[in-house]
Amino acid sequence: MISRRTKNSHIDDNLLQSKLKQSGAIPVHIAIIMDGNGRWAKKRNLPRVAGHKEGVESVRDIVEVCGQIGVQHLTLYAFSTENWKRPKDEVSMLMRLLMNALRDETDKLHKNNVRVKAIGDILTLPVEVRNELNDAKEKTINNTGLQLHLALSYSGRWDITQAVRKIADEIKTGTLTPDQITSDIIEKHLATQNIPDPDLLIRTSGEFRISNFLLWQLAYSEIFISTVCWPDFRRNQLYEAIIDYQKRERRFGMVSEQLGKKSAGSILIKKILKHVSG
Ligand code: FPP
Repeated sequence: MISRRTKNSHIDDNLLQSKLKQSGAIPVHIAIIMDGNGRWAKKRNLPRVAGHKEGVESVRDIVEVCGQIGVQHLTLYAFSTENWKRPKDEVSMLMRLLMNALRDETDKLHKNNVRVKAIGDILTLPVEVRNELNDAKEKTINNTGLQLHLALSYSGRWDITQAVRKIADEIKTGTLTPDQITSDIIEKHLATQNIPDPDLLIRTSGEFRISNFLLWQLAYSEIFISTVCWPDFRRNQLYEAIIDYQKRERRFGMVSEQLGKKSAGSILIKKILKHVSG
């Protein structure tokens, strides 16, 4: 990728990142509903494909910065179960975009120590996409940095349904009894097994919906709604979401007094962000 960043913006960005790390906890797992590609394009009198293409640029920037600031898991809602109902042309175009992005970006992801994974009903994807996905997964399997989970042909209801089926099979074969079903057992059968629940859910384009994303896993996630459309959501918008997250008090059903101290404020980062975005 050719970086469009100037030397000065790099310095500002390094400063922002180090302040962000000092000002509070960096979320271990960030999940994103990337919304508004179509509206972004419409506003500019461009075809929807232009919005999706620019959306891939946002994916690049956000993946890169998550690796840099120490996010351990990033889950991107790239194609939902419901997205299959879109016009055939748009589905094909999204599949091609995904395939090309995987093919073009895997080397760079590998160089940046990113591990590529996927959740969803992967067998429903075209074979060419599956092949690129498998190549990316295999190539990056030993990487120890950011884990990038692509949610493809995924929905929360699909996930819970497939988990219930697997559990029912185990009961049928006698390896599990109904009274052994606990929350932990259910989690172990979800597509996200071994991935901690998201700390922060970001949705772009100002919509206040979960849209059948990680229904089980989002139980205690902090939610950040950004008004900008996904193609305009870049690192500075992510920093704003994290600053907001750092100010939240996560009680997990408890009361304030049972928790440790709240994280420090982040006025300085806000000032720098204001300066960077002009
Ligand atoms: C939502 O915008 C976006 C999608 C359905 C697809 C997201 C896919 C990408 C950004 C590209 C591929 C991703 C990777 C991981 C390389 P929308 O079309 O629903 O927008 P609208 O609500 O404005 O119509």
